[in-house]
Amino acid sequence: MGGKIDLIQHLLIICVQSITLYLMIMLWLQSKISIGTVVLVETYMVVVANNLWDFGNAFTRFMKSIADMKEMVDIFEIIPDILDPKNPEKLKIRDGHIVFKNVFFKYNLGHKIFSDFNLDIKPGERVGIVGHSGAGKSTITKLLLRSNDITTGVIAVDGQDIRNVTQDDLRSVISYVPQEPILFHRPIKENISYGKPNATDEEIVAVAKKAHAHEFILNLKHSYDTLVGERGVKLSGGERQRVAIARAMLKDSPILVLDEATSSLDSVSESYIQSAFSELMKGKTTIVIAHRLSTVQKMDRIIVLDKGQIVEEGTHQELLKLNGFYADLWNHQTGGFL
Ligand SMILES: Nc1ncnc2c1ncn2[C@@H]1O[C@H](COP(=O)(O)OP(=O)(O)OP(=O)(O)O)[C@@H](O)[C@H]1O
Ligand SMILES: [Mg+2]
Repeated sequence: MGGKIDLIQHLLIICVQSITLYLMIMLWLQSKISIGTVVLVETYMVVVANNLWDFGNAFTRFMKSIADMKEMVDIFEIIPDILDPKNPEKLKIRDGHIVFKNVFFKYNLGHKIFSDFNLDIKPGERVGIVGHSGAGKSTITKLLLRSNDITTGVIAVDGQDIRNVTQDDLRSVISYVPQEPILFHRPIKENISYGKPNATDEEIVAVAKKAHAHEFILNLKHSYDTLVGERGVKLSGGERQRVAIARAMLKDSPILVLDEATSSLDSVSESYIQSAFSELMKGKTTIVIAHRLSTVQKMDRIIVLDKGQIVEEGTHQELLKLNGFYADLWNHQTGGFL
């Protein structure tokens, strides 16, 4: 586009110059003007052409800025889907008693995920959620964190509807390791202390050790001060996950949500981190989502989700005895190793 405008501008200027030159010469041949006038007009034409050229460029830049500005204003004008209540209640969440009651939900452009979904997680209970890909496991965590709002029904924590408090307050009581952790283009230590900005360096190193991130961080060029790149691109999936785990460990909150938190780790690192997790889960309401059933084996209760419905629930042993969906998954996974 810019090229085309330049070309047209050039052609126009050449045309005008040629026409003036032709007219000047004709007038001079008819002795109507002197050679001095020809030179004067031609010199003047060069100056005018230069000015026109600069003006054209300035105008193009101006139009471009306006277009950029419009894009930005458009972004500012987007109203977020999830709004805080006008008069938010004071946060009463202490123990983390999570209740999903008659929850219906569908994504804006998607199909129905939950119809009349009910789930009650007692304070301090450790719940594992398993099920095929697309069953709606991560959606449960998104609804609990209020990244999406349910259509009807209630999600309450300690009796308080999560729509009645601000999103900041709600998220302050939940430590969350998402399926795909997002890091900020800031030093690693700030990425870890994100949930507790006033953490001391000692605290940061201590959680990094627990999350088995300390070793790889020391190997980075500027250790804890290394910038991680946009969204953390300079780290491997497993390294990003360990930073996110350290972040969740540092943020001491009554509810802990782990969505495939150790899926990118090798089995050895996973087993180390699992022991740190069991320490962390003490006294906290915990939701652990995992494809690897060994990760959720020791939970107080395992929920098997299929197409947005709870199809089985119980402890690992109870579910194996049922010889249903879970037993199938288990046999499939252990069968692979034997
Ligand atoms: N933002 C979205 N918009 C529309 N549909 C979505 C969105 N996120 C998820 N879905 C759909 O919702 C369903 C449940 O997704 P969800 O992420 O909860 O699955 P999951 O059980 O966590 O799967 P996985 O084990 O692969 O992580 C899927 O069919 C998915 O396509
Ligand atoms: Mg998921």
